[in-house]
Amino acid sequence: MTAAIDLVGVDVEFKRRGRAPFHALSDLTVRAERGQVTCLLGPNGSGKTTLINVLTGLLTPTVGEVKVLGLIPRQNRRELLSRVAVVPQETALYPELTARENLTFHAGYYGVPRDQQKRRVAEAIELVQLQQRADDRAGTFSGGMQRRLALGKALMMAPDLLVLDEPTLGVDVQSREAIWARIRETAAEGRGVLLTTNYMEEAQRLGDRVIIIDRGRNVAAGTIDELTAVVPEPEQVLRPQASLQDVFLHYTGRDLRD
Ligand SMILES: Nc1ncnc2c1ncn2[C@@H]1O[C@H](COP(=O)(O)OP(=O)(O)OP(=O)(O)O)[C@@H](O)[C@H]1O
Ligand SMILES: [Mg+2]
Repeated sequence: MTAAIDLVGVDVEFKRRGRAPFHALSDLTVRAERGQVTCLLGPNGSGKTTLINVLTGLLTPTVGEVKVLGLIPRQNRRELLSRVAVVPQETALYPELTARENLTFHAGYYGVPRDQQKRRVAEAIELVQLQQRADDRAGTFSGGMQRRLALGKALMMAPDLLVLDEPTLGVDVQSREAIWARIRETAAEGRGVLLTTNYMEEAQRLGDRVIIIDRGRNVAAGTIDELTAVVPEPEQVLRPQASLQDVFLHYTGRDLRD
């Protein structure tokens, strides 16, 4: 079976007027297997969203190979559109439509047969626990509810690959737990899951594999145990093992606190 995501040696450059191009991604290699949650952990501006734009075919790398579900995004956008669900960093909802209407519109747009739409929408609402607010306008939702609705939209499509760009940014602890549980289940169903985050705890809790990126480059990758095993624990702190925090600091020289 092909990997969910297979990126090798990818470079992305943004042209700048009167200056050398900016390298948003440099020699980046990312592999994500089906049935696993792969976390891309990196600070602001490290290239996480840029990478997602490469996966969806919105950006073409100047160098490197990109395969998503074994296909080249630029050449197979139509097929990938129906098999890859993306929850973007900025929640894309119609604020004037209710939660149910947002989901129904999405289902129609992505070709869910009419006679299945009602059921699929109801299931999605239940999945993200928005039953009480299903017929309220999305524009009246809190940030966390909007994130959950966006997640419901993505999961409704039963994608082979789910890509989430900072799924719990600004989400409260309770909603975060609900979202995390769904993400884990999605991987357990055999789907590929790639999520970006700059929350250590999120990577720690969810990542079967964690890939740390900084300034558009891979700095480390592995399971949490693999990553923490190679980093010496800090002397002054009594902990049995280094934490992901220590790993991040070790490789990037940056202290990224939650
Ligand atoms: N269209 C563009 N033109 C020029 N530079 C861009 C463009 N898009 C992104 N960049 C730059 O590329 C770098 C990576 O941006 P990106 O949005 O991928 O970061 P990120 O890791 O998603 O950050 P965050 O955690 O803040 O969402 C940044 O320095 C950004 O300014
Ligand atoms: Mg981003």
